[in-house]
Amino acid sequence: MDAHSSTLIFLLGVLLAGCGAAQPETADWPVYGGNGENTHYTTLDQISPKNVADLEVAWTFDTGDSFPGSEMQTNPVIIDGIMYATTPRLQVLALDAASGKELWRFDPTDGAVSSSRFRHRGIVVTQDRVIFNYRSRLYALDRLTGEPIMSFGKDGWVDLREGLGRPVEGLSVSASSPGVVFEDLLIIGSSVPESLPSAPGDIRAFDVNTGALRWSFHTIPHPGEFGYETWPPGAWKVAGGANAWSGLTVDVENAMVFGATGSASYDFYGANRVGDNLFANTVLALDARTGERVWHFQGLRHDLWDRDFPAPPVLVTVQRDGREVQAVAQVSKTGHVFVFDRLSGEPLFPIEERPMPGGGMGGEQMAASQPFPVLPPPFARQRLTAADLTTRTPEANAAALKTFEAYSTADPFSAPDTSGTIIYPGVDGGAEWGGPAFDPETGLLYVNSNEMGWLLKLVPQSDESAYAANCASCHGADRAGTGAAPSLLGIVQRTSREHVTSAIREGTGTMPAFAVVIGRRATEDLVNYLETGIDASAAKVGKTPFDLPYRTALFDIFLDHEGYPGVKAPWGTLNAIDLNEGSIRWTIPFGEYPELTAQGIRDTGTDNYGGAIVTRNGLLIIAATTYDRKIRAFDKLSGELLWQADLPFSGNATPSTYVVDGRQYIVIAAGGGKNGAPSGGTYVAFALPEWGG
Ligand code: HEC
Repeated sequence: MDAHSSTLIFLLGVLLAGCGAAQPETADWPVYGGNGENTHYTTLDQISPKNVADLEVAWTFDTGDSFPGSEMQTNPVIIDGIMYATTPRLQVLALDAASGKELWRFDPTDGAVSSSRFRHRGIVVTQDRVIFNYRSRLYALDRLTGEPIMSFGKDGWVDLREGLGRPVEGLSVSASSPGVVFEDLLIIGSSVPESLPSAPGDIRAFDVNTGALRWSFHTIPHPGEFGYETWPPGAWKVAGGANAWSGLTVDVENAMVFGATGSASYDFYGANRVGDNLFANTVLALDARTGERVWHFQGLRHDLWDRDFPAPPVLVTVQRDGREVQAVAQVSKTGHVFVFDRLSGEPLFPIEERPMPGGGMGGEQMAASQPFPVLPPPFARQRLTAADLTTRTPEANAAALKTFEAYSTADPFSAPDTSGTIIYPGVDGGAEWGGPAFDPETGLLYVNSNEMGWLLKLVPQSDESAYAANCASCHGADRAGTGAAPSLLGIVQRTSREHVTSAIREGTGTMPAFAVVIGRRATEDLVNYLETGIDASAAKVGKTPFDLPYRTALFDIFLDHEGYPGVKAPWGTLNAIDLNEGSIRWTIPFGEYPELTAQGIRDTGTDNYGGAIVTRNGLLIIAATTYDRKIRAFDKLSGELLWQADLPFSGNATPSTYVVDGRQYIVIAAGGGKNGAPSGGTYVAFALPEWGG
């Protein structure tokens, strides 16, 4: 289609909408992200810029199984008036999409209630079945009853740990994002541990009817495969990660599937994986029928910062020299958008190599340069200096400055080390897993962005040095006590492991709590050290490929002394990026802290998770903000706020929109639970009070 005819169709659409064209009786939101292209775009137009302010709650549904810290990241699928979604404890639900009434529910634990904190973004509905992932199980359920379909895999499920070419025991593989369907294939990425031992991030196609494995693409190449030499020999047997955890995108017409991968495990130290580490941090275009690589683009070589590509690629059409080009857009945690020709992988805006600072500990070999798109400009700030620290109050600025000065922040690509670095933009973006929305009418890509630093500090894998760094100042280097604190010699024998563990994690009153600074496993190691006097962690280094000389001591958002971000506001933004021009059309602060708003401190922006949907008739609809629990609609061209409503918990998810009996709904999972926000389990559906007239 040329530009001319698409404009005509657009005008026709406007005309039809203008005369109250027939709203369909039913319209689906058939897949995660709204459509195969992952654009979160809809032509449904009963809800419009004119009437959006009249939206009311049509129904709510409480899943009844939320718990402190639980989240709901699901983008519900709606087909033929039935909504399919998941709950905080990862049960599957089918609801009447017009009333919110429960039709069936499937509990994969058979009543053995799980309190694991699942981060789960959705399911697949195809033919007669719902396909969903629980831990390492990939289930097929009857779409009308919720019963497992016994002919799928073994007893209704496939074990995702199988077929990876490694012993199943000890592998941890799940899928936090749903797969995509192409012909009779279910194609899916995976979630794997970010520390070692991990599992390889193979992208795999299963027979949607039987669950049989039909093809695998090895994101950590095997001998003889392209990219093998970008890892040390033998790494393919032990390395992990390079997984497309945020989901996939399918181009049915071209029989291609697109994915974007995360970093190699362990995230923050890579002397044991010297090389570029293909296909980690890579946009991949695969033949959907065979899994063969068509093209790839590695956005970050030898990642040391957990700078995963955080969202699946989006299939877009852009204008180039008066012609329409089928393209693919990829957002990054670093605040960039890469745009490629979909078929060839040629970048549509220049990409330049920028030199990297070098450095790193213990045999680390950082990449000499990294690729950056020249256009569009980044949608997040790129460098943190003292001048960019919070100005919320003078005390907040002083506290942030103290942290800033204690950490080495010379370059956003400085290697992690034992003195600590600030990753900026942070590990949660820039862009996050909600992914962008794309408007084919205007070529605008909508990206919500986090503007936070993250603190990272490594420590040697050594119990003695953990003790020296955290405890010796009070309890003495020889553990015999000082005037400030009692002796710890024989403390485990004199009391108990539980007593010592809780003293370390929770503090004692005079002694500080270390739960945030020293992880669970490191605490256990420290208790062993107090019991035996032997530095078992240091003794293990190098014994297996998984025992690295460093581990994470601290990995958290950079905050001031009162828990607000340590950088200058805005702390979250919403951006409209013109993919035709390669420019940013508008940027607005996104989200507020209610208690700051009450003090008159407005438009700070906050961290936000979950994407937007964009409508042909002019709306951009998004929840996502972590602390103000709002869902909002903006004018898609200007960014002007047209409507907002309160949710019972923050809607850290992407909304869906659909029609049942001629009425259009917008539904959002309100699950909260991010970064200390309260958790809940409510689906909220909005609609107009009057419709069809
Ligand atoms: C700022 C000083 C300080 C630091 C740092 C400190 N402690 Fe303590 N710790 C104390 C004091 C003081 C007590 C005695 C209880 C009290 O007065 O609250 C104590 C008590 C304990 C106890 C309980 C002893 C008992 O007899 O029941 C354990 C176990 C302990 N500390 C372990 C550690 C470990 C392990 C570390 C390092 C991770 C550590 N402490 C760091 C000051 C400190």
